[in-house]
Amino acid sequence: MIRTVISTALVAFVVLFAPAAQAQRGEKGIPPVEAVTAKHGMVVSQEARATRIGVEILKQGGNAVDAAVATGFALAVTYPRAGNIGGGGFMVIHLADGKRATTIDYRETAPAATTRTTYLDANGEADPRKSRDLGTAIGVPGTVAGLALAHERYGSGRFTLADLIRPSIPLARKGIPVETDIADSLPGVAARLGRWPSSAKIFMRPVGSVLREGDTLIQGDLADTLEAIAEKGPRAFYEGPIADKIAAAVQKAGGLMTTDDLRDYRPKERAPVRGSYRGFDIVSMPPPSSGGVLLIAMLNMLEAYDLKPGDARTLHLMTEVMKRAYADRSVFLGDPDFVDAPVTGLTARGYADALRATIDPKRATRAGLFNPVNPLRFESENTTHYSVMDRDGNAVSNTYTLNFGYGVGLVAEGTGILLNNELDDFAAKPGAPNAFGLVGFHDANAPGGRKRPLSSMTPTIVLKDGKPVIVTGSPGGSRIITTVLQILVRTLDFGQSVDAATQAPRIHHQWQPDVVRVEPGLDPALIGDLEARGHNVVEARPGTAANTIVMTPEGLVGAADSRTRGALAAGH
Ligand code: DON
Repeated sequence: MIRTVISTALVAFVVLFAPAAQAQRGEKGIPPVEAVTAKHGMVVSQEARATRIGVEILKQGGNAVDAAVATGFALAVTYPRAGNIGGGGFMVIHLADGKRATTIDYRETAPAATTRTTYLDANGEADPRKSRDLGTAIGVPGTVAGLALAHERYGSGRFTLADLIRPSIPLARKGIPVETDIADSLPGVAARLGRWPSSAKIFMRPVGSVLREGDTLIQGDLADTLEAIAEKGPRAFYEGPIADKIAAAVQKAGGLMTTDDLRDYRPKERAPVRGSYRGFDIVSMPPPSSGGVLLIAMLNMLEAYDLKPGDARTLHLMTEVMKRAYADRSVFLGDPDFVDAPVTGLTARGYADALRATIDPKRATRAGLFNPVNPLRFESENTTHYSVMDRDGNAVSNTYTLNFGYGVGLVAEGTGILLNNELDDFAAKPGAPNAFGLVGFHDANAPGGRKRPLSSMTPTIVLKDGKPVIVTGSPGGSRIITTVLQILVRTLDFGQSVDAATQAPRIHHQWQPDVVRVEPGLDPALIGDLEARGHNVVEARPGTAANTIVMTPEGLVGAADSRTRGALAAGH
């Protein structure tokens, strides 16, 4: 029998992350996912207006990077819970001309004054308020610089940055109807946003309740900010009046960010991590995300097995490789500018062989160091991923976030910019779980000035003979990496269509806590079999949203995840 863990102490947290409408939808299983086909190019994002803006750029001759940049700015207006200019993320780019790939790391950095004790209370214990709720949680945003860098280095040259920002400005200025995801997600964050008058005046009615279906979300200050970036370029975000307002807002909320921190922020171009799986090449995000390294490590372990759909042994083996990969994450990975993460070793086949040798094909290995934290608290879709392909075979896989839905909840007064609480992704203290239950030991992911916290975001491109055949990624905190793993196993091993792979219920294990989370809809016989093998199975609300494009003989086929309302795959 499935053990559903309920803890009243965490009800507030669950409400924060789990709008009622979605919980109800989840109980019935995952809603149908529709496949969409296109000949020339495609965008799959979590919000329809942003998808259409990206597709329009493709139609006008823009490449995948141009479309990705336009979609990124649009989501900052139309998908405020995770689309952002006040957060950060990662972009993986495959360039058709030189048949090469690169990545842009635009992860937030900690303010220079951050130290190892910033997130501790007076007794030296981790204080989640400091890393999640107060100004100290806020990292220096990377999105504007990251998108601008992608455009400058890899755009087609046919569009200025202003051309790519401009379509979003009227959506902010004139407003958009409150519907689908905004209507679903706002009630859950009313208390968070209501703490700050600058946020309340945008997202709440004058009487104090959040905006509802049928209201209009108007973001005039955000329109001004976007206009300033369009006119003056990305530095307008990092220096001058906008930066002054961000730093002032963060400091007023108890944070450490200074105008120097903003001025000194730089996105980084990094070589992707690479692996191969059943004849396909995997290109994904290196540290400071753990996503690519773990994905490749798990695929390396799995490649030796025959994996089948509807098969308990397959689910057991996948769970076992997840455990092992996440255990390594907690020790070895962090910001590569500060720690020497053993990426080559962790993604080596020999290492995978050694780990595989510890897997019992019949029985669950106890995860050890079991830390009883409530799995329900890790569920949310508060990041967002979009995938883009163009007619020339360029591909972009982009995941970005404010961390929690609507970030820390603070809009910097006069800017319209919702700020992140990304610094909770540091290990506040060895062994103290972050909001997703992820733990870190030793030094790799300790907080530190100008350091980037370790991420799980896994924007990924799969190539066959040098050409992109799958572009994918997902939100979901710690569950991002296993979601991408399952999209790849379902398409590459099981031969499933992208819509079937997207809709299928997912499983997740992250080493600690020692539980397998399964989404609603998984065959109860399979769950029973997993339990018989010694796994602790708990039911998990759907909390991920993969947005994927695959290249097929019939053309591009995209699937927008139905786990949140309003996602759209579209092409031309
Ligand atoms: O970078 C990370 O791994 C997290 N900050 C992502 C947060 C997330 O996915 C929230 N929503 N699901």
